Amino acid sequence: MNLEDLKLNITDIIANDDLAVQDKLMEICTFLSNNVPYYNWVGFYFANHETKTLHLGPYFGAATDHTVIPFGKGICGQVANSNQNFVVPDVTAQDNYIACSITVKSEIVVPLFVNGINIGQIDIDSHTIDPFTEADERFLEFVNSEVAKLF
Ligand code: SME
Repeated sequence: MNLEDLKLNITDIIANDDLAVQDKLMEICTFLSNNVPYYNWVGFYFANHETKTLHLGPYFGAATDHTVIPFGKGICGQVANSNQNFVVPDVTAQDNYIACSITVKSEIVVPLFVNGINIGQIDIDSHTIDPFTEADERFLEFVNSEVAKLF
């Protein structure tokens, strides 16, 4: 599996005029989880800048109680403030972490920018320890740059 090979599928989903925005996001989550063995939960959170909270959007994987996350809380909330990618090789080493399931070993969160504003993020949980490389960061930045075209 080569992440580069998946880029075309992402641009195809974005360009599919038969799908509404939410359906495109859902399709991206499903596609990524089905095609990258260590992407076990894939979802989008969107920011409300007035209430300083993140809200769960489309996702693929186990249901989560964490549908609203305050800025600053957990990995997701920290990315809402930092505007930086956050790669967590081992979630047990994090103090400020919101556990969704004991099966989750690692996590990557990449902010979603529209016109320079951090409007949300893509969040991926993995059941594998330390699976994410710079290739995942670059790939997920690409995914988000495509998703940004929908907003
Ligand atoms: N682990 C995240 C919470 C969201 S779940 O992974 C779906 C965090 O610490 O922000």
